[in-house]
Amino acid sequence: MKIAARFAASDDGHLDEAMHSAWQRDGFLVLENFKSPDDLLELRRRIDTMVGDFDPESVRTIFSTSEQSHAGDAYFRESGDKVRFFFEAGAFGETGELNVPKRRALNKIGHAMHDLDPVFSRFCRDPKLAALAGDLGLADPGLIQSMVIFKQPRIGGEVGMHQDATFLYTEPVSATGLWFALEDADRENGCLVALPGAHRGPLAERFRYHGDDLRMDQLQDPNWDEDDLVALEAPAGTLVVLHGLLPHGSAPNSSPRSREAFALHVYDRAFEWSDDNWLRRSEDMPVRGFADQ
Ligand code: FE2
Repeated sequence: MKIAARFAASDDGHLDEAMHSAWQRDGFLVLENFKSPDDLLELRRRIDTMVGDFDPESVRTIFSTSEQSHAGDAYFRESGDKVRFFFEAGAFGETGELNVPKRRALNKIGHAMHDLDPVFSRFCRDPKLAALAGDLGLADPGLIQSMVIFKQPRIGGEVGMHQDATFLYTEPVSATGLWFALEDADRENGCLVALPGAHRGPLAERFRYHGDDLRMDQLQDPNWDEDDLVALEAPAGTLVVLHGLLPHGSAPNSSPRSREAFALHVYDRAFEWSDDNWLRRSEDMPVRGFADQ
């Protein structure tokens, strides 16, 4: 598999001409050294503290009762404006005890740390990101979703090919992924992979509510040729920008190294957030921009 070209991030977040044309052509950008080692350290320390403070007992029943899927769904469905912890499949035994140490059992944390945690908010409300979002053409960017993605050594699973607009839909599509490598991500530990140029194709699926029923609807046969995949290898500190229609995913982590990442999603508030999206926020937590404190 080919490795995608990387750019050195600019000091102020703005894109130069070469970056602009790569973005138009490929639907992604790999910007090395966008975040400093100090920025990464601060966020990773905060993640460690959050995980340390988190009591798995508080959600154990959700994942272990016979109504597992139903209750689990609610835990997920209501997480759009909260900070919640999600485990790897099989992290809990039949009686609800954790099979592996807590730190190794987590799949992700989501989905509103950017609003609820000051360290995350600072990492996200970075003037460089505001400059970048403006250059990408987002007129009024709103920060809609944040996720810490653990991709644990040896057990971190595959993330299948998908488009982020499937989950975060506006008309027209404006969802944009800002994916930060908190550790080196490469082909051994399951870096992102993507189909360059396929962001010009249609949206293949939508994950949406029909009344109370949240399900995946197939819209188009996407016809993605996985032979054309490129690896978005990303040393720690790299920002990968992903167009909402770009098909991407990641392989399992079969290495002994972890591959922690942080993803922030923004959309253009000039367009309407689709009411049937899975991600919902209470009225007292409106979506905020880069400059809203
Ligand atoms: Fe994604």
